[in-house]
Amino acid sequence: MSEPLLEIRGLKMHFPIYEGAFIRKEVNRVRAVDGLSFDILQGETLGLVGESGCGKSTTGRAIIQLYRPTEGEVRFDGTNLCDLSSKELHPLRRDLQMIFQDPYGSLNPRMTVGDIIAEPLKVHQLAEGKARQERVQELMEIVGLDPRFIRRYPHEFSGGQRQRIGIARALACKPRFIVCDEPISALDVSIQAQIMNLMEDLQNEFDLTYLFIAHDLSAVRHISDRIAVMYLGHLAELAEGAEIYENPLHPYTEALISAVPIPDPEVEKTRQRIVLEGDVPSPLDPPSGCVFHTRCPYAWDRCAKEVPAFQEAEPGHFVACHLVDEPERRGKAGAAEPVATKTPEVNGPTDEEPATEEPHVEKAADEEAADSEETSEEEVTS
Ligand SMILES: Nc1ncnc2c1ncn2[C@@H]1O[C@H](COP(=O)(O)OP(=O)(O)OP(=O)(O)O)[C@@H](O)[C@H]1O
Ligand code: SF4
Ligand SMILES: [Mg+2]
Repeated sequence: MSEPLLEIRGLKMHFPIYEGAFIRKEVNRVRAVDGLSFDILQGETLGLVGESGCGKSTTGRAIIQLYRPTEGEVRFDGTNLCDLSSKELHPLRRDLQMIFQDPYGSLNPRMTVGDIIAEPLKVHQLAEGKARQERVQELMEIVGLDPRFIRRYPHEFSGGQRQRIGIARALACKPRFIVCDEPISALDVSIQAQIMNLMEDLQNEFDLTYLFIAHDLSAVRHISDRIAVMYLGHLAELAEGAEIYENPLHPYTEALISAVPIPDPEVEKTRQRIVLEGDVPSPLDPPSGCVFHTRCPYAWDRCAKEVPAFQEAEPGHFVACHLVDEPERRGKAGAAEPVATKTPEVNGPTDEEPATEEPHVEKAADEEAADSEETSEEEVTS
């Protein structure tokens, strides 16, 4: 097992909401990331998945200090990055890079490709003049771009080529850790595999560690050593890729996996899809206790009262769910009534029996489409 390259403890990123034109007063805060603790191991690809708005990008940005976290620690090689001033952080930024989701918006349209890739070399004073130009051309070759196009502008390239420019820019300073924020989701399917293969080759060649963010569980399965599942600013589960698929312990992960199509048509016909009811709550007013309790088919009264610890339920398999302590509830539970979303009395009465229905499960076959009543339900898509 590799050593941790990054140790993240109690990471919080809250965005304050202010009101008032002259006297600005904080009236609320978006709890985008609300207390994450996990390690990223040297040389691994850690996939991070979850629904839109659950805080994946914010997590990536807070780890590499593009956002300065509200609370918590990010230890990189033993140094807590959150304690450092901008000046102290500057030399470390070379090691911590990001590839962005949007290959169109993330490149300055008024700069040539050569200038875009050279920018980090300039900022960190790593090469000048001819040496800088040669390094840029070398980087273009590494990512599969023709170095003769060094004076062209981003709009003269296709989406896949632009993403290669973004990758070259991220590689320029020979980083050790890269946050890959949905780097393929804006690309055509045919190009996605090429970019994924390129990223894997680069990882092997340059001993890179990736945090690979995606909506799509099937995309992270291919590239990830371990997978972390996020919901509303919290980590639900983290384990090795195969373990997450074969033995999901968190009900949210179960639902995500049930939504992934199976390539074998015979098996696909029998796939049971778990449809979560209700909307994702707002990070402005997250539910009490377990943040997933308003949609969890197994929730019982404890879930609305007590925040589940993110604990190692099995070796290397972390999960935040009370079912770890009370596994017998998995068989019989099913929230017939939504549990209260506001903070209840912590020591309140607990005589409520768990509901006895099975979780809402439906077949993935064609009959699902025919059932018009289901269309208003929010379905988990990976
Ligand atoms: N700079 C900001 N100021 C205020 N709120 C923000 C800011 N950045 C993100 N948020 C909010 O934080 C929450 C998490 O956003 P984030 O972009 O991290 O989600 P995500 O999981 O990356 O979503 P997506 O899959 O759509 O990219 C959202 O509710 C978002 O509106
Ligand atoms: S703690 Fe309760 S509500 Fe949360 S995921 Fe586990 S069973 Fe569901
Ligand atoms: Mg995002």
